[in-house]
Amino acid sequence: MKHHSLSFKWLLLIFLTHSTLLTATHSLTIPRMSPIPEWETTLHNHPAINTEEVKTFYFKQVLDHFNYRPESYTTFQQRYLINFKYWGGANSSAPIFAYFGAESPIDNSPNGVGFLTDNAASFNALLVYIEHRYYGKSVQFGSREEALKNASTIGYFNSAQALADYASILKHVKKTLHAKNSPVIVIGGSYGGMLASWFRLKYPHLAIGALASSAPILYFDKITPQNGYYSTVTRDYREASETCYETVLKSWSEIRRIASQPNGLVTLSQRFNTCHTLNQSYELIDYLRSTYVYAAQYNQPPRYPVSMICGGIDGESLGSDILSKIYAGIVALRGNSTCKVNGPTNVSETTVGWRWQTCSEMVIPIGIGNDTMFEPIPFNLTRYAEGCKEQYGVSPRPHWVTTYYGGHNIKLVLRRLGSNIIFSNGLRDPYSIGGVLDNISDSIVAVHTVNGSHCLDLLRANQSDPGWLVEQRKKEVKIIKRWITQYYADLDALKDKPKFQSK
Ligand SMILES: *[C@@H]1O[C@H](CO)[C@@H](O)[C@H](O)[C@H]1NC(C)=O
Ligand SMILES: *[C@@H]1O[C@H](CO)[C@@H](O)[C@H](O)[C@H]1NC(C)=O
Ligand SMILES: *[C@@H]1O[C@H](CO)[C@@H](O)[C@H](O)[C@H]1NC(C)=O
Ligand SMILES: *[C@@H]1O[C@H](CO)[C@@H](O)[C@H](O)[C@H]1NC(C)=O
Ligand SMILES: *[C@@H]1O[C@H](CO)[C@@H](O)[C@H](O)[C@H]1NC(C)=O
Ligand SMILES: *[C@@H]1O[C@H](CO)[C@@H](O)[C@H](O)[C@H]1NC(C)=O
Ligand SMILES: *[C@@H]1O[C@H](CO)[C@@H](O)[C@H](O)[C@H]1NC(C)=O
Ligand SMILES: *[C@@H]1O[C@H](CO)[C@@H](O)[C@H](O)[C@H]1NC(C)=O
Ligand SMILES: *[C@@H]1O[C@H](CO)[C@@H](O)[C@H](O)[C@H]1NC(C)=O
Ligand SMILES: *[C@@H]1O[C@H](CO)[C@@H](O)[C@H](O)[C@H]1NC(C)=O
Repeated sequence: MKHHSLSFKWLLLIFLTHSTLLTATHSLTIPRMSPIPEWETTLHNHPAINTEEVKTFYFKQVLDHFNYRPESYTTFQQRYLINFKYWGGANSSAPIFAYFGAESPIDNSPNGVGFLTDNAASFNALLVYIEHRYYGKSVQFGSREEALKNASTIGYFNSAQALADYASILKHVKKTLHAKNSPVIVIGGSYGGMLASWFRLKYPHLAIGALASSAPILYFDKITPQNGYYSTVTRDYREASETCYETVLKSWSEIRRIASQPNGLVTLSQRFNTCHTLNQSYELIDYLRSTYVYAAQYNQPPRYPVSMICGGIDGESLGSDILSKIYAGIVALRGNSTCKVNGPTNVSETTVGWRWQTCSEMVIPIGIGNDTMFEPIPFNLTRYAEGCKEQYGVSPRPHWVTTYYGGHNIKLVLRRLGSNIIFSNGLRDPYSIGGVLDNISDSIVAVHTVNGSHCLDLLRANQSDPGWLVEQRKKEVKIIKRWITQYYADLDALKDKPKFQSK
């Protein structure tokens, strides 16, 4: 498809990150996460920040929140944005919606994450968007190069520091805006959704609730089977079309067969209109696999990319061979006006940053089992750790997330401890398999849609939205309203009480 025909929505959310796990023959990429597919952010120059509505601020943030060594007190400028348009004002106790920027610059969030602006008026809410450290303009050590230079400088790049950053900024905002009693709802998608849910558990005094969209907090250790992600992708294609699924399944051996023939790579290059001649068959295989994966993760209405691909594949005339069908699938999604495979790419901040994050604490073990439409590539933690060590000089800590935030037996643990978290998912999103899909208690709830995709609920509402999506968002708003009502009741009831009560 043509670039300008891509819907803006594709930009918003995601988790697909390309961290490289080395496998025997080639690399398997761990799908990135974020509300917005990467190609969208690079293809468009977004009308980034609407400066009439959204003001930019910087907070003097400390480098290291967790110890008292002199270098920890070094500071950097952390960016956050505020939209005052809908707010009830200082001293009004009107709510604050805080969006947690995750693994990308914050610039696109005010436009992209429409859930906040769509609902701000009915809550009289202040909208705050906070950039994650090491992304965008919120970099330490003076520049990105310095910040990412080596393990000593990049070592402050982790989720616990990020949550503490958010906490400091929220405290600062509440204080400076005379919003002491304003209830804060934290909102995030994908990795940002994980951060939102963890923030609610770690900082209950700063956020009264969290909306965690498409947050696979259970895709750590072995809580979720490693094959889950690609099995879900495969199910999406089978549901779209059984013949499409079968064609893709058969295509890999066909590509390898042709690649092994004399001049085979030249043939493949011509058939797939590559930007330059393929050096290895995996360049094509990786491209196809990631295209199928992104289409499934961001399978958004009204276009439904999976259906577009399958429409192309199934639409080829009966006598066509497998490769023609596969190419027709790609053209149906991406158009044929320019070459796609093997093209020049800019490595984005998200790719670079997320690679470190997945090589340190966000070790999401995704492998490809033997029941998918892809060639099997099991996840091998030993090899993965070796690759990370080689690249960064330090080893990943694959068990740290579950040690620090939990995850095992989550129902048992959270049933009586936590409250006020919405885990929203679209079950066609392959990351949903690592999400919380059952209600845990009265106020830790799972709101999912059968046909939804990654972070879909956070996107701007549109009159063409299907009814189930409208319903999902309505449900979420209703739940958040209930939390806030309850909070005001508690605030009221406790207001005139002495600070310390003795019996
Ligand atoms: C809010 O309260 C503070 C302190 O009581 C006061 O200085 C400020 O002017 C008030 N702001 C508004 C908009 O009422
Ligand atoms: C990382 O870079 C900093 C700044 O250039 C330097 O002082 C430090 O020794 C380096 N650390 C390592 C582990 O190479
Ligand atoms: C393919 O190989 C040629 C020659 O070795 C090299 O110049 C080119 O960069 C390679 N292309 C890719 C995509 O690796
Ligand atoms: C691209 O698509 C157009 C319209 O579908 C078609 O006419 C043209 O032959 C295609 N070009 C290539 C190189 O496949
Ligand atoms: C890469 O970034 C440069 C500078 O922003 C831009 O001119 C170029 O078009 C980009 N290339 C691609 C393939 O996106
Ligand atoms: C698929 O994998 C499962 C578990 O890893 C194994 O038991 C089974 O034999 C495999 N099937 C095939 C056809 O390889
Ligand atoms: C995993 O990788 C390690 C190190 O590369 C290798 O020794 C081991 O055989 C691999 N395990 C499996 C099951 O392939
Ligand atoms: C969880 O509870 C909410 C009501 O609070 C309900 O709307 C939702 O459908 C429930 N989710 C599941 C997965 O049963
Ligand atoms: C989901 O989409 C399928 C078609 O792809 C449709 O048959 C089904 O009714 C939809 N389910 C819901 C709950 O909307
Ligand atoms: C609603 O979606 C349609 C189809 O994707 C799009 O063309 C239109 O611009 C969207 N409208 C708004 C207000 O975003």
